[in-house]
This record gives sequence, structure tokens and C-alpha cells, in this order.
Amino acid sequence: MAWYQVLVLGALLSVSWCTEDWTFPPGFKFGAATSAYQVEGAWNVSDKGESIWDRYTHTRPEDIADGSNGDVACDSYNLWQTDIDNMVDLGLHYYRFSISWSRLLPNGFANKISEDGARYYNNLIDGLLEKGIEPLVTLYHWDLPQNLQDLGGWTNPLIADWFSDYARVAYSLFGDRVKMWLTINEPMAICDVPYNAGAWAPGILSPDHGTHLCNKNLLLAHAKAYRVYDEEFRAMYNGEISLSNILFWFEPWTEDDHDLAELAIQYCAGRYSHAIYSKEGGWPPAIEKIMEENSKKKGYSKSNFPAFTQEEIEFIKGTFDYFALNFYGAMLVRAAEEGEQLGPWPFGDIPDINAVIGYRPEWPENIVSILGIYPEGLRKQLHWLKENYGDMKFLITENGYPTRGEPNDQDRIEYIEVHLREILLAIKEGINLTHYTVWSLMDNFEWADGYGTRFGLYEVDFNDPLRPRTPRDSAAFYAKVIKNHALDEE
Ligand SMILES: *[C@@H]1O[C@H](CO)[C@@H](O)[C@H](O)[C@H]1NC(C)=O
Ligand SMILES: *[C@@H]1O[C@H](CO)[C@@H](O)[C@H](O)[C@H]1NC(C)=O
Repeated sequence: MAWYQVLVLGALLSVSWCTEDWTFPPGFKFGAATSAYQVEGAWNVSDKGESIWDRYTHTRPEDIADGSNGDVACDSYNLWQTDIDNMVDLGLHYYRFSISWSRLLPNGFANKISEDGARYYNNLIDGLLEKGIEPLVTLYHWDLPQNLQDLGGWTNPLIADWFSDYARVAYSLFGDRVKMWLTINEPMAICDVPYNAGAWAPGILSPDHGTHLCNKNLLLAHAKAYRVYDEEFRAMYNGEISLSNILFWFEPWTEDDHDLAELAIQYCAGRYSHAIYSKEGGWPPAIEKIMEENSKKKGYSKSNFPAFTQEEIEFIKGTFDYFALNFYGAMLVRAAEEGEQLGPWPFGDIPDINAVIGYRPEWPENIVSILGIYPEGLRKQLHWLKENYGDMKFLITENGYPTRGEPNDQDRIEYIEVHLREILLAIKEGINLTHYTVWSLMDNFEWADGYGTRFGLYEVDFNDPLRPRTPRDSAAFYAKVIKNHALDEE
């Protein structure tokens, strides 16, 4: 059996499927996502400033699997109308894309707005709305202006001002038409990957300090951008805004690892959610305690996990209109043995909580090793979030499956389908989930994987200067789900 047949069989056994109605609730919306650096190209046109991903790929090509970069990528800077045509063919309700900060504000600061940058996003937004496709706009999807990085980037507390100034420009220019916003995509990829693992832009290894400074400043930056919207734009535009977290579901490896699995969830989800979504705000207490102990063990006289003031706790708490999550898979955790060498989080283990990561043999593998496929984990994750942070609206802002690029991508179809079934079950169990987003609309620059890892409903030929897009089988599948507003009976 192919892996997906195992999953489908599992889904059939776990629910009384013959009586299930696989129709989505009225108003449930389907979308697809991309991000600026991964699709736009045109990295140096007009007055666009350099971003940290421009710098990183140009100076450290050896850190990208195929030595490639996003200089041209899908050329969506020029081909956005083709992208919209493809979205129309899919029947998308909304399109999630991000704004390139250094395209809109060439030097990162809000004193100079690029006319060409503003025009590009205005055209894209108007083009979408003309076709009845709502824009869901991410302000920050990892491409920090390089000159802000030169001033410390996310480790400098002033980033909260820089980011909220940028957010204000974006709301002023586009807020009359954009009603759904995400401040920041995947904090873990912004703080943990570069500073814990030394990978991805800016690729600065500083696990004891950089990660934590970035974590705290990022929460403050998000909160400030939220409050700018709340105070200056909401009454006028009546939109909604939150941040988007990547969450992996953690299961205990052995009977003894239940507490550790909970701690791992707090480590992965809590560090970037607790301050915003919990009733009490601030850090997850268990994580704050462990970080203090770790700091002492490493010889620091006090915790290098930066504390929040009471004022900061209040400032960050409640800065959301919904919970947005990107979900790809699950992991197992067990306690490390004495002297066991741990890889860095998030590409190995979780040294901060002394946890080793693994995968269940029955969780199908895919080409991206950190994604253990466990669709039920998504439903468990949603329940965990509701139990810990309360009832609210949930959006899946990314879910998708990597391949090497075959046009007949049955495995991607099955991946999307089994996750959609879990979503329907979650909704029936009382989770208020309103949006599902496929990552990605089309193949694009997949960060350190370059162009070797393909997530697209549409294939993009990166060897052809015209970057033609071709629908894969999954595009037809997704279009049918959207049209029927339902999955087929099993
Ligand atoms: C822009 O970058 C490309 C490489 O991607 C280079 O060939 C071209 O000369 C650059 N254009 C300008 C105006 O610097
Ligand atoms: C879901 O949340 C939205 C926004 O908070 C609310 O309007 C709606 O009634 C909720 N739906 C359910 C089924 O609870």
C-alpha cells in the first residue's frame, strides 16, 4: 500500500464514515498561499531595497541545496495576472501572499515609500478583487530589509517601532481593500532556525541569546502592529488581524514522556502564542522556569530568557482577532539519555528541554524529513489550542505536501484530502475553523531546499525564462473540492 492508502484506511476505521457528511459549513473558505521572496523575483528592480534573503542567497549559496536564489523565482512581479487566472481556475475564495518590506520601503524605514512597490501590490490586490478573490496579506514572511538586519534585526528592540511603522504604511495604502491581515509568518522560522540552528537568513548562530531576544522582540513587534491597526484603522476598515504560527504536534515516545510532550508543545507553540492568546499572558511558566535553570547551568548569573515587564505582558495580551496556524506534521519526543548528543532545534532535537525527536514508523515519510505525516495531529492540535487559549476563530494558513515535482501528484491529493477530513471532524467537534489554505499555489523558491522541493498545485518550469505554470492533478482535485464545497463520500 502507498502511504496515503494507509492514512485513508486509518481515517475510515477511526470514524463512522458511512454516515458522515463530508460537506463544509456554509461560508467556509478555501485559499492558497505564497510569499513574496519565494515567488516575486525582481529582487533588484526599480528602487527595491536588498533583503536578508537576497544577501543570504548571494553570499552563502553553499547553504542552499542547489545554490539557487529568488532573484527571478516564479517572476510573479511580472506574471501576477497569470497567477490570478490560475486562482480563478481553482475557484479560490482568497489568496494569501506577503508584502516584501524592502520593496515597499526600500530602506526599511517609513520615510520613503516606493511608488513602484505600492503600485505592484495595488495592482495585485485590485486584480484579485476584480475576480472576487479576497486578499489575505502577510506583512512579514522572512525577508527583512538588510539595512535593518545591519542594525541587529529582530534582536534589536527597536524592531517593534520599525515593524509597526511599516505596518501602518501597508494599512494606509491597502487597508481599504485588504480585510484580512497577518503580521508575521512563523516566528519559529524567524528566530529559532537562524539563531538556534544557524541556518536560513540571517544565519547567525546564537542559541543562548539571539533566539530569545528575537522571540521577545517579535512578540512586541506583532503586538504594536496589531495595536496600530486596532487604534488607527479598525473603525474605518473593519478588518481582522493576527499572527501565523507553525505548529508541530508532539506525541510522547514512551509512557514516561507525556509531560515532556506537553512541554514540547509549550516550547514550540507556547513561546510564540502564550503571550498573545492565553488569559494570563507572558511566557509559558514551565518554559520560563526551564530557561532560567538552563542559563544557570551554563554559568550565567541570571536567566538569559528575557523577562516581560507587567506593562509588556498587558501590551501583548489579546492582540489577535483569530488564531492562524500552519500545520505540516507531527513529532515524537522522549527524554534524552545521560550524555546523549542532541541536534539543534528545529532541525534535530530540542536541547533546551533535553528532548530527542523521532517519528512513528506508521507516520508516512516524505522528502522533507521534518514532516512526519499525522493528520489526526492537526485535530489534536486544534483542541489543545482551544483548551489552552479559549474558544476563538481558527484559520489554517498553510498545509501542504512536498514532492520532487511529478505532474500526477496523487500523494499531494491524498495529503490534502486526509487533512480536510480531520478539519471537518474538528468542526463537528466544535472547533470554529473557517479557512483552509494550501501551501502552495505554485512551486517556488523553497528556502534552503532551493527549487528541488515542490509544494505547488501548479508546476513551474524554472528552466524556462517564461516560467510557465502547469496545473498538477492536485489542482483539479482542489478545484472540485471548492466547487462542491465538499469532499467525496469515501
Ligand atoms: C539585477 O540582478 C540580476 C541578477 O539577478 C543582474 O543580472 C542584473 O544586472 C541586476 N540589475 C541591476 C539593475 O542591477
Ligand atoms: C466563529 O467565530 C466567529 C467570529 O468570532 C463568530 O462570528 C461565529 O459565530 C463563530 N461560529 C461558531 C460556530 O461558533
